[in-house]
Amino acid sequence: MTDTQPQVAAGKVLWHFTMSLDGFVAGPDHAMDWMTGFTVRDGLIDEYVTTTGAILGGRSGWDTINGARPYGGLWDGPIFVLTHHPEDATPAEGVTFLSCDVAEALEIAKKAAGEKNVEVFSPTVGRQLLERGLIDEIDLHVAPVLLGDGIRLFDNPGGVPVRLNRVGDDPVRALNVRYRPA
Ligand SMILES: NC(=O)c1ccc[n+]([C@@H]2O[C@H](COP(=O)([O-])OP(=O)(O)OC[C@H]3O[C@@H](n4cnc5c(N)ncnc54)[C@H](OP(=O)(O)O)[C@@H]3O)[C@@H](O)[C@H]2O)c1
Repeated sequence: MTDTQPQVAAGKVLWHFTMSLDGFVAGPDHAMDWMTGFTVRDGLIDEYVTTTGAILGGRSGWDTINGARPYGGLWDGPIFVLTHHPEDATPAEGVTFLSCDVAEALEIAKKAAGEKNVEVFSPTVGRQLLERGLIDEIDLHVAPVLLGDGIRLFDNPGGVPVRLNRVGDDPVRALNVRYRPA
Protein backbone atom coordinates (compact mmCIF):
# COMPACT_ATOMS: atom_id res chain seq x y z
CA MET A 1 0.00 0.00 0.00
CA THR A 2 1.33 3.46 -0.81
CA ASP A 3 1.52 6.06 1.93
CA THR A 4 3.23 9.38 2.53
CA GLN A 5 6.66 9.53 4.13
CA PRO A 6 6.61 10.68 7.76
CA GLN A 7 6.27 14.46 8.07
CA VAL A 8 9.46 16.37 8.92
CA ALA A 9 10.06 19.69 10.62
CA ALA A 10 11.47 21.99 7.96
CA GLY A 11 9.91 25.41 8.49
CA LYS A 12 7.07 24.45 6.16
CA VAL A 13 3.52 25.75 6.01
CA LEU A 14 1.16 22.78 6.03
CA TRP A 15 -2.55 22.92 5.37
CA HIS A 16 -3.24 19.88 7.51
CA PHE A 17 -6.54 18.06 7.90
CA THR A 18 -8.26 14.77 8.33
CA MET A 19 -10.79 14.80 5.50
CA SER A 20 -13.71 12.62 4.47
CA LEU A 21 -13.39 10.86 1.14
CA ASP A 22 -15.82 13.41 -0.35
CA GLY A 23 -13.77 16.41 0.76
CA PHE A 24 -15.29 17.58 4.04
CA VAL A 25 -13.22 18.45 7.12
CA ALA A 26 -16.25 18.93 9.38
CA GLY A 27 -19.85 17.82 9.15
CA PRO A 28 -22.90 20.10 9.32
CA ASP A 29 -22.76 22.50 12.31
CA HIS A 30 -19.07 21.67 12.71
CA ALA A 31 -19.84 18.04 13.61
CA MET A 32 -16.69 16.01 14.26
CA ASP A 33 -18.27 12.74 15.44
CA TRP A 34 -17.33 11.08 12.12
CA MET A 35 -13.65 11.19 13.13
CA THR A 36 -13.84 7.79 14.80
CA GLY A 37 -13.91 4.18 13.68
CA PHE A 38 -10.77 4.24 11.55
CA THR A 39 -7.09 3.73 12.23
CA VAL A 40 -4.00 5.71 11.26
CA ARG A 41 -0.45 4.51 10.77
CA ASP A 42 1.64 3.89 13.90
CA GLY A 43 3.25 7.04 15.26
CA LEU A 44 1.25 9.43 13.07
CA ILE A 45 0.15 11.68 15.91
CA ASP A 46 3.69 11.82 17.34
CA GLU A 47 4.97 12.85 13.90
CA TYR A 48 2.90 16.01 14.02
CA VAL A 49 3.37 16.64 17.72
CA THR A 50 7.15 16.75 17.20
CA THR A 51 7.26 18.61 13.86
CA THR A 52 4.71 21.34 14.56
CA GLY A 53 5.98 24.66 15.91
CA ALA A 54 2.80 26.73 15.70
CA ILE A 55 -0.80 26.46 14.60
CA LEU A 56 -2.76 29.08 12.67
CA GLY A 57 -6.54 28.74 12.68
CA GLY A 58 -9.78 30.63 12.14
CA ARG A 59 -12.21 31.85 14.74
CA SER A 60 -15.05 29.44 13.90
CA GLY A 61 -12.83 26.41 14.33
CA TRP A 62 -11.45 27.78 17.57
CA ASP A 63 -14.89 28.58 18.98
CA THR A 64 -16.04 25.08 18.05
CA ILE A 65 -13.34 23.20 19.91
CA ASN A 66 -14.13 25.08 23.11
CA GLY A 67 -10.58 25.52 24.35
CA ALA A 68 -9.44 21.93 23.66
CA ARG A 69 -5.76 21.61 22.72
CA PRO A 70 -4.79 19.99 19.40
CA TYR A 71 -3.58 16.39 19.31
CA GLY A 72 -5.41 15.48 22.49
CA GLY A 73 -3.28 17.89 24.52
CA LEU A 74 0.01 16.19 23.54
CA TRP A 75 1.16 19.33 21.71
CA ASP A 76 1.61 22.54 23.68
CA GLY A 77 2.93 25.16 21.25
CA PRO A 78 1.52 28.58 20.35
CA ILE A 79 -1.83 28.88 18.60
CA PHE A 80 -2.81 31.91 16.52
CA VAL A 81 -6.46 32.51 15.66
CA LEU A 82 -7.55 34.96 12.97
CA THR A 83 -10.72 36.93 13.66
CA HIS A 84 -12.20 40.28 12.68
CA HIS A 85 -13.44 40.79 16.25
CA PRO A 86 -10.79 39.68 18.77
CA GLU A 87 -12.45 41.82 21.47
CA ASP A 88 -15.13 39.20 22.17
CA ALA A 89 -12.84 36.15 22.14
CA THR A 90 -12.38 34.24 25.38
CA PRO A 91 -8.69 34.46 26.35
CA ALA A 92 -6.88 31.13 26.60
CA GLU A 93 -3.32 30.28 27.58
CA GLY A 94 -1.01 29.98 24.57
CA VAL A 95 -3.62 31.41 22.19
CA THR A 96 -3.20 34.77 20.42
CA PHE A 97 -6.13 36.30 18.56
CA LEU A 98 -5.00 38.19 15.48
CA SER A 99 -6.86 40.70 13.40
CA CYS A 100 -4.55 41.45 10.52
CA ASP A 101 -3.77 40.47 6.96
CA VAL A 102 -3.58 36.70 6.52
CA ALA A 103 0.03 36.86 5.26
CA GLU A 104 1.03 38.92 8.28
CA ALA A 105 -0.64 36.36 10.55
CA LEU A 106 1.33 33.62 8.85
CA GLU A 107 4.59 35.53 9.36
CA ILE A 108 3.82 35.81 13.08
CA ALA A 109 3.10 32.07 13.26
CA LYS A 110 6.27 31.22 11.29
CA LYS A 111 8.41 33.28 13.61
CA ALA A 112 6.89 31.46 16.59
CA ALA A 113 7.41 28.05 14.92
CA GLY A 114 11.15 28.62 14.35
CA GLU A 115 12.63 25.61 12.52
CA LYS A 116 9.41 23.65 12.87
CA ASN A 117 6.30 23.72 10.70
CA VAL A 118 3.25 25.94 10.85
CA GLU A 119 0.03 23.97 10.59
CA VAL A 120 -2.97 25.76 9.12
CA PHE A 121 -6.07 24.27 10.73
CA SER A 122 -8.65 26.36 8.91
CA PRO A 123 -10.33 25.84 5.52
CA THR A 124 -10.89 29.56 5.04
CA VAL A 125 -7.41 30.66 6.11
CA GLY A 126 -5.85 27.84 4.07
CA ARG A 127 -7.72 28.93 0.94
CA GLN A 128 -6.56 32.53 1.37
CA LEU A 129 -2.95 31.43 1.84
CA LEU A 130 -3.16 29.08 -1.14
CA GLU A 131 -4.38 31.97 -3.31
CA ARG A 132 -1.32 33.96 -2.21
CA GLY A 133 1.06 31.07 -2.90
CA LEU A 134 1.89 30.69 0.80
CA ILE A 135 1.01 27.02 1.36
CA ASP A 136 3.96 24.63 1.01
CA GLU A 137 2.05 21.37 1.40
CA ILE A 138 -1.55 20.21 1.65
CA ASP A 139 -1.23 17.32 4.08
CA LEU A 140 -4.33 15.14 4.30
CA HIS A 141 -5.46 12.01 6.04
CA VAL A 142 -8.41 10.72 4.06
CA ALA A 143 -10.88 8.97 6.33
CA PRO A 144 -12.93 6.09 4.90
CA VAL A 145 -16.27 7.88 5.21
CA LEU A 146 -18.63 9.92 3.01
CA LEU A 147 -20.31 12.89 4.73
CA GLY A 148 -22.31 14.46 1.92
CA ASP A 149 -22.63 17.77 3.79
CA GLY A 150 -20.56 20.02 6.02
CA ILE A 151 -17.48 22.21 5.72
CA ARG A 152 -15.32 21.57 2.71
CA LEU A 153 -11.54 21.64 2.70
CA PHE A 154 -11.68 23.93 -0.34
CA ASP A 155 -14.89 25.84 -0.89
CA ASN A 156 -14.41 28.11 -3.88
CA PRO A 157 -17.57 28.33 -6.03
CA GLY A 158 -16.87 29.85 -9.42
CA GLY A 159 -13.13 29.42 -8.97
CA VAL A 160 -10.79 27.79 -11.45
CA PRO A 161 -9.17 24.38 -10.82
CA VAL A 162 -6.01 24.58 -8.74
CA ARG A 163 -3.40 22.14 -10.06
CA LEU A 164 -1.33 20.25 -7.51
CA ASN A 165 1.81 18.16 -7.57
CA ARG A 166 1.70 15.06 -5.43
CA VAL A 167 4.70 14.80 -3.07
CA GLY A 168 6.64 11.68 -4.04
CA ASP A 169 8.06 10.01 -7.14
CA ASP A 170 5.43 10.86 -9.70
CA PRO A 171 3.95 14.32 -9.11
CA VAL A 172 1.19 14.13 -11.73
CA ARG A 173 0.05 10.59 -11.08
CA ALA A 174 -3.54 10.17 -9.90
CA LEU A 175 -4.05 8.35 -6.61
CA ASN A 176 -6.04 5.14 -7.02
CA VAL A 177 -8.16 4.03 -4.08
CA ARG A 178 -10.96 1.48 -3.90
CA TYR A 179 -13.57 1.12 -1.15
CA ARG A 180 -16.54 -1.05 -0.26
CA PRO A 181 -19.50 0.09 1.85
CA ALA A 182 -18.91 -1.06 5.44
N1 LIG B 1 -10.85 17.56 10.17
C1 LIG B 1 -9.84 18.16 10.78
O1 LIG B 1 -8.72 17.65 10.80
C2 LIG B 1 -10.06 19.49 11.41
C3 LIG B 1 -8.98 20.17 12.02
C4 LIG B 1 -9.21 21.45 12.54
C5 LIG B 1 -10.47 22.03 12.44
N2 LIG B 1 -11.48 21.34 11.84
C6 LIG B 1 -12.81 21.92 11.70
O2 LIG B 1 -12.79 22.86 10.66
C7 LIG B 1 -13.89 23.74 10.85
C8 LIG B 1 -13.42 25.14 10.55
O3 LIG B 1 -14.53 25.91 10.41
P1 LIG B 1 -14.76 27.08 9.31
O4 LIG B 1 -14.18 26.76 7.99
O5 LIG B 1 -16.20 27.37 9.40
O6 LIG B 1 -14.02 28.26 9.98
P2 LIG B 1 -12.56 28.75 10.26
O7 LIG B 1 -11.81 28.80 9.00
O8 LIG B 1 -12.01 28.01 11.42
O9 LIG B 1 -12.92 30.23 10.76
C9 LIG B 1 -13.48 31.19 9.91
C10 LIG B 1 -13.35 32.51 10.63
O10 LIG B 1 -11.97 32.86 10.77
C11 LIG B 1 -11.82 34.27 10.71
N3 LIG B 1 -11.00 34.64 9.57
C12 LIG B 1 -10.73 33.91 8.46
N4 LIG B 1 -9.92 34.62 7.64
C13 LIG B 1 -9.70 35.80 8.25
C14 LIG B 1 -8.93 36.95 7.91
N5 LIG B 1 -8.23 37.01 6.76
N6 LIG B 1 -8.91 37.99 8.77
C15 LIG B 1 -9.59 37.93 9.96
N7 LIG B 1 -10.33 36.86 10.34
C16 LIG B 1 -10.37 35.82 9.48
C17 LIG B 1 -13.23 34.84 10.57
O11 LIG B 1 -13.65 35.00 11.91
P3 LIG B 1 -14.57 36.22 12.41
O12 LIG B 1 -15.95 35.84 11.93
O13 LIG B 1 -14.42 36.18 13.89
O14 LIG B 1 -14.06 37.46 11.79
C18 LIG B 1 -13.97 33.69 9.91
O15 LIG B 1 -15.36 33.78 10.09
C19 LIG B 1 -14.36 23.53 12.30
O16 LIG B 1 -15.57 22.81 12.31
C20 LIG B 1 -13.27 22.68 12.91
O17 LIG B 1 -13.74 21.82 13.91
C21 LIG B 1 -11.30 20.10 11.32
